Amino acid sequence: MTYHAIEWCPGADGKPVVRMIDQRLIPEQLKTLDYIDFEAVAAAIRDMVIRGAPAIGLAAGYGLALAAVRGPDDPGCLRETLAQAAATLRAARPTAVNLGWALDRMLARLSDPALATADALRSAAVTEAQAIDAENLQMDLDIARNAFPLIPDNANIYHHCNTGPLATGGYGTALGVICYAHEQGKQVHVFVDETRPRLQGARLTAWELQQMGIPFTVVPDGASGHIMRTQKIDLCIVGCDRVAANGDVANKIGTYNLALAASAHGVPFYSAGPSSTVDLATPTGGDIPIEMRPPEEITHISGVRITPEGASVANPAFDVTPAARLAAIITERGVAYPPFTESLARLMGGK
Ligand code: MRU
Repeated sequence: MTYHAIEWCPGADGKPVVRMIDQRLIPEQLKTLDYIDFEAVAAAIRDMVIRGAPAIGLAAGYGLALAAVRGPDDPGCLRETLAQAAATLRAARPTAVNLGWALDRMLARLSDPALATADALRSAAVTEAQAIDAENLQMDLDIARNAFPLIPDNANIYHHCNTGPLATGGYGTALGVICYAHEQGKQVHVFVDETRPRLQGARLTAWELQQMGIPFTVVPDGASGHIMRTQKIDLCIVGCDRVAANGDVANKIGTYNLALAASAHGVPFYSAGPSSTVDLATPTGGDIPIEMRPPEEITHISGVRITPEGASVANPAFDVTPAARLAAIITERGVAYPPFTESLARLMGGK
């Protein structure tokens, strides 16, 4: 992979910065932005400079590391700044559990009373965020290996949203599975849902598949029924933003529609994600908070209004696919099959 969604880099002033690809500009431009404070990182998550559940978790981790590195020298004051930074970052987006997961992990590390100086806190924060970064990549690779037997040769694969390196900061989850199968010599063709309204499929997944040299066809979200009726689709694979204890999966809006079409046509539907996306504390999909985004994402395209002035609009960013529509949930710890309440609890046993 020749690009990094997010990196911890030395800045012009000698102190570290968080460098992110501005995903709002792809595919027209591959441009990075440098961040020096946690408020701006929270805004970048909210405005979707960076997006994708594992990548926003990583951004939150590095955002907290920035707060540590650039915060006050008094350890007591620095701890207060870190608590405030964590609250600000946590509020950036509600659905992907990786955000809170990464912050909880960082805060647990930083709560160690042995970290008595500002420098000790700083060093621990940076080390922990970098560990999350390295683990993201390893988890992605393990997901891809675990899913490999589920991908037939000459497979037509349906995918929704974007789940590649841009979405994880690593190798990708669902798209990583596809990429790995391709790298291992399996023939694959990907049907790429365009993913209204932010077009993560048409813009980001199409761009990443081009980088990987994997053949694909971008289709409008509403085409899934038609495509499944008229083409041989072997499987659907998508990512996840939060997996409830019963196996209900929150993912990008439109995922549930795709799962219903797959179910009607007997096509297996898989969700792939790291164990940091599995939230056993959330009993069912009905308990997952669904982010509502600004109406302008629906009413306007590239700044041009497409709905009549005053039109009523709802813009839920995610939906929940009920566990009953899923053939399996693929994690780095293994593949969970129905009944998910038991299989997920087993996989997450050591968590
Ligand atoms: O709104 P986004 O672009 O952050 O939504 C992303 C998705 O829904 C992805 O499918 C999910 O986060 C998994 S990314 C590996």
